Parts: sequence; structure tokens; C-alpha cells
Amino acid sequence: MYLSREEEGIYQGERGETLRRMMEILVALGDIYGAEKLVPVRSVQIAGVSYKNIGEAGLEWISDLQCSVVVPSILNPAGMDLCRWKQMGIGEGFALKQKETIEAYRKLGVTIDCTCTPYQIYEGLAAKGDHLAWSESSAVSYANSVIGARTNREGGPSALAAALVGKTALYGYHLDENRLPTLLVKVESDLRGSDYGALGFLVGGIVKDGVPFFRLRGLRPSLDELKALGAAMAASGSVALYYVEDVTPAPAVGQAEETICIGRKEIEEVYAQHPGGGADVVALGCPHCSGQELEKIARLLQGKKVQKELWVCTARKIADKHSDLVAAIEESGAQVFCDTCMVVSPATERFSRMMTSSGKALAYLPGLGGVKAGLESLEECIDVALERRY
Ligand code: F3S
Repeated sequence: MYLSREEEGIYQGERGETLRRMMEILVALGDIYGAEKLVPVRSVQIAGVSYKNIGEAGLEWISDLQCSVVVPSILNPAGMDLCRWKQMGIGEGFALKQKETIEAYRKLGVTIDCTCTPYQIYEGLAAKGDHLAWSESSAVSYANSVIGARTNREGGPSALAAALVGKTALYGYHLDENRLPTLLVKVESDLRGSDYGALGFLVGGIVKDGVPFFRLRGLRPSLDELKALGAAMAASGSVALYYVEDVTPAPAVGQAEETICIGRKEIEEVYAQHPGGGADVVALGCPHCSGQELEKIARLLQGKKVQKELWVCTARKIADKHSDLVAAIEESGAQVFCDTCMVVSPATERFSRMMTSSGKALAYLPGLGGVKAGLESLEECIDVALERRY
């Protein structure tokens, strides 16, 4: 891979051991994937934040680094709400380690926002055509597909390396040739809300790491619905880029190799195969809720009391901005947690079955959260928390 004189100097250790190690990671990845060179990134979103996932070895690795980020860099969700971890049922030991992890990132100059929806809180992190180094799969999908930026799905170390060096290797979704549609998906059904998660869950399993191009019969999904669609495909498959005709920045569909049709029957089958019956907790906010989603949840809960635990996950900045909605939601007995989510927190291990409106949580909860999962619409999830059903 070609390195400029400055990059070569970093690689040789002229700017210290930490940067040398970081450059080594970038060059190794570039060599593996046949990158010609490095490219500057506008922002970085770093995975490897929940102490549940990184453990002691990860914490030591981060704590060892002696350097500062050179581009705006924020974090993926942590293993707990950084303020209200006791209400989540997190123990002191885990909390201590999680706080140490956050402090290690703070020392590196990383902004302490722990969210998978950075685009909901900072406009300046990504714009069409920008090269990024983001980690969390739903954020990667949103950046590539909805914003029209360019990022691979970075691992924790490679994202951190990009944050400290300010560059990433030019391969994968940074290149035009890897951004062409591979599958045309004709959807012959109306869709709303969690249907986009169900559709994504289905298509992700079919297309794997391909690039689906959706034709939605003139539907115009909201940004939250696009967020849910991409998140589910990234989890049930490893889709990092998709297009929706006339909605997302899209190339012509002509290149797609195959076509599939999905109707109401197939969408209903996803719900039927993942029933929510017997859930002992309901969790919303995967990916993290937007202000509009908080508003809808607050409206559905108005004047009512939940009978089951109901978690609503969001970014702290969103919760702070909409403190009236958070208060209204919590008035019902539901809990709004920030900085974390139902998949990356060990707090969910005490539950046996979770109901969610998210296709991504549906895909990840059994493996990563150790909890069985059912999928229902947002309205049905809230009905279950109110025990109007099951
Ligand atoms: Fe975000 Fe956690 Fe879902 S990181 S996309 S809320 S699994």
C-alpha cells in the first residue's frame, strides 16, 4: 500500500509507539483488503465500549494508548446507563470497570457520547461523500445508505486507529465499485413502523453481505423507518449499504444481479415465527430512539401504568433535549436508559424473554444478550407492557 512520507514516518515510529501501533493496524487491514492508500476520515464512531464485550484485556489495551484523537470521535453504547446504572440492576464491580473504560476513552480525547445513532445528535459528523470510520453496524448502514457517506464496518481497534491517525484504508465501501446494488427487492405490501424491521430481518438473511435495492411501491419511509430497516439487515445479514428507490441517494438499479418479491405474507411470517408471548420485559430503542420515537412512546403511555418492565433506550443528548418526554414516559413506570442498550448491557441477563419492536434486537438478543426475543409493533409492545395482552 502506498504511504506518504508523513504516513511512512508514523509507521516507522517517528511520532511515538502508540501512533506506530495504530498505523500498523491500518496498514495491515489495507494490505489484507488490497487498499491502494489511506484516506482521511471526517469522523469516527468507536465500538468496544461495553465492558461486557471488551473485558479486562480490552480495557488494558485502551488504557495503554498514549495519544489523542485527531478527528471528531464518539462511542458506541456502553454496558450501562452511566448515571442510572443502579436502576438497571448493574453491580458495583461492573460499574467500576465500565467507568474506567469510559475514562480511558476520555483521556484519548474521545467525546463521551455512547450511542449507535450519532447522526441523530451531531449533524457535522457525516455528509454525502464523506469518508468515515464507523463501527456500529446500524450506524454504518445509516451512514452509507441514508446519508450517502462511505464507511466500512470497523472493529474497535481499527476505529480507534482511524481516530488517532485521522485516516482509514481505502477499500470496501469507500470505493464506487463496491457500492453497486446486487439484489432488487420488490416489496408488494404497505409497510409501517416495525414492518421495516421485519422486512430488514428477512432481507438481511437472504442478501447476506450484498447491497439490496428496494422498490417500495411509492412508499416514503421516515428516517426512523430507514434506521430500523438498515439495522435489521445489518444484524440478520451483514448488509452495510442499501438503497430505497427515490428515497436514498441511489445509483441506477440496472446492475442488480437478482430480483426477489416480498409481500404481506412474508412480513407476517417474520412476526409469526417470533411471537412475544411470555415476555418478562419489553425493550424499545434499538437503534436508539429519536425524539419523534420518544414522543410516540410518551403518547401511547399517557395516563397509564406499566405492569411489566419497559425499557426505552436512547442517546443521552436526545434524552436531555426531550426531558419532558422522558418524564412523561417514566410517569408510567417505564424507564428511559441512556448510553446503553438491551443487547450490550449485562443487565438483561436476568430476563428470560424480551419483546421488542426491533428487527436488529430480534436477531442479536438470543446470541449476544442471552435472552429469547419476540417481535411486535411498537403499539403491541406497549400493550404488552401494560398487560393488555399475554
Ligand atoms: Fe444500537 Fe444496541 Fe441496537 S447498539 S442498534 S440499540 S443492539
